[in-house]
Amino acid sequence: TAGMVTLDPGFGNTASCKSEITYIDGAAGILRYRGYPIQDLAQGSSFLEVCYLLIKGRLPEAAELKEFADELRSNAELPEGMADMLDAFPRNAHPMTLLASAVNTLSAFYADSVNPQDPAQVDLATTRLLAKLPTIAARIYRNSIGEAPIAPDPSLDYVENFLNMTFGSAKPEGEVGELFAKAMDLLLILHADHEQNCSTATVRVVGSSQADLYGSVSAGINALFGPLHGGANQAVLEMLEQIREMGGDLDAFLAQVKDRESKTRLMGFGHRVYKNFDPRSREIKGLARQILDRQERPDELFELALKLEDKALADSYFTERKLYPNVDFFTGVIYRAMGFPTSMFTVLFAIGRLPGWIAHWREQLADPATRISRPRQLYIGPGERSYPGRA
Ligand code: SDX
Repeated sequence: TAGMVTLDPGFGNTASCKSEITYIDGAAGILRYRGYPIQDLAQGSSFLEVCYLLIKGRLPEAAELKEFADELRSNAELPEGMADMLDAFPRNAHPMTLLASAVNTLSAFYADSVNPQDPAQVDLATTRLLAKLPTIAARIYRNSIGEAPIAPDPSLDYVENFLNMTFGSAKPEGEVGELFAKAMDLLLILHADHEQNCSTATVRVVGSSQADLYGSVSAGINALFGPLHGGANQAVLEMLEQIREMGGDLDAFLAQVKDRESKTRLMGFGHRVYKNFDPRSREIKGLARQILDRQERPDELFELALKLEDKALADSYFTERKLYPNVDFFTGVIYRAMGFPTSMFTVLFAIGRLPGWIAHWREQLADPATRISRPRQLYIGPGERSYPGRA
C-alpha cells in the first residue's frame, strides 16, 4: 500500500505498478517529469532534452545532448521498403491507423533490434523510433494531400526537420516560422509523459509479455487513437466546428451535454486523475493566445473555445463533477493555426508521447520483479449448464 492506493495489478484507480518517471498530484494540479515541474521544463527545456531526461532519468550535459541529437539526425531516414508500403495505403485512411501499422512493421524492417533481452538492441530500437516517427508521420501527411515526400534534412534540428518534411516550402519562415517551431517543441514537451494513462498502460501490458518495443509502441498508438484519450484533440475541433454550425449557441450545446440521453460530452474537459486544473492546459492556453493574437483576424474557434471554457467553469454541472479543461482542449486551435488538418492532431500527440512510452517500457523491462500482466475478473455469468441432448 502506498498512500491512498494499494499496489494491486488491477485496473481503475488501483496502482498497477511502481515508477520513478512521472509524478502527478491530480488534486493539486502537479505534474513532474523525473522530479522537474512541467512549468520549469516548459519554460527552459527542449523536447530532445526532455526525451533524454525521461528515458535516461537525468538531464544531459550539453555534449551528451548534442550527441543524442546527432544520433537521431543520422537515423531519420525510413528503412528501404517502408516508403513503398506507406505509399500503397489508401490516401484517405486515418493517419493514426497508418502510423500504428508503420511502427509495428519496424520490427520487420529491423530484425536486429527486436530482442528485449539485449540492451544494445533495446537502445537501437529506442533511437530508431525517436528518429523515424516524425519522418513516418510527415510522409503519411504528404501522401494524404497528394504531395511528394520530403526527405529528412540533417542541417535542421528535430522539430524544424519535422515541420520541413511536413510542409516544405509552405512552412512559414522568419519570426513566424521560429514561433511555430518553438510552439511545436513546447507542445511535444507537454505531451511527453503522463504516468499510467491508457496508452502508456497499454505499452506496459504488451511489453510485460516480452514483446518487442516496436510492437508495444504500436499498441500504444492504437490506444491513443480513441476519442476518449488522445483522439480528443481532434474531437474538440470537430465539436467547436459543430457549435459554430449551430450558430455558436453555447447554451444550447451545454444543455445537450447535460442531457445524459444525448450522450454528448464536452470534449477536452474532464480527466481521470486531475480533479482540478490540468497544468498542461494552462501552458497551452497561453501559447494559443500568443500564436493566435498574431493573426490578422481573431480566430473564431479559439474565441468560441474561450467562451465555452468560461461558461462551463461557471456551470455547477461541470464544477460539481470536477470537470476542467485538459491537455486536449486548446491544442487543436494551435495545430490548426499551424496548418495541420484535424486528422493529424493525434499523430502530433503520439510524437510527443513517444519518449514516455519508451521510458515506461524500458523501466518495466529493467525491473526484475516484473511479471506478465494478467488482470483477474469478477465472473458474473451463468453457473454450469448441461449441453442439450447430453444427459
Ligand atoms: C487524455 O489519463 C491520462 O493521463 C490521459 C491524458 C494523457 O496525457 O495521457 O491526460 C490525455 O486522454 C485527456 C482526456 C481527453 N479526453 C477527453 O477530453 C474526452 C472527454 N472527457 C471524458 O470522456 C472524461 O472526462 C474522461 C474520459 C477524460 C475521464 O473519464 P472518467 O474519469 O471515467 O470520468 P467519468 O466518466 O467517471 O465522469 C464522471 C462524471 C460522469 O457523470 P455522472 O455519471 O457522475 O453524472 O462526469 C461526467 C460523466 O458523465 N463527464 C463528463 C465529461 N467527462 C466526464 N460529462 C460531460 N463532458 C465530459 N467531458
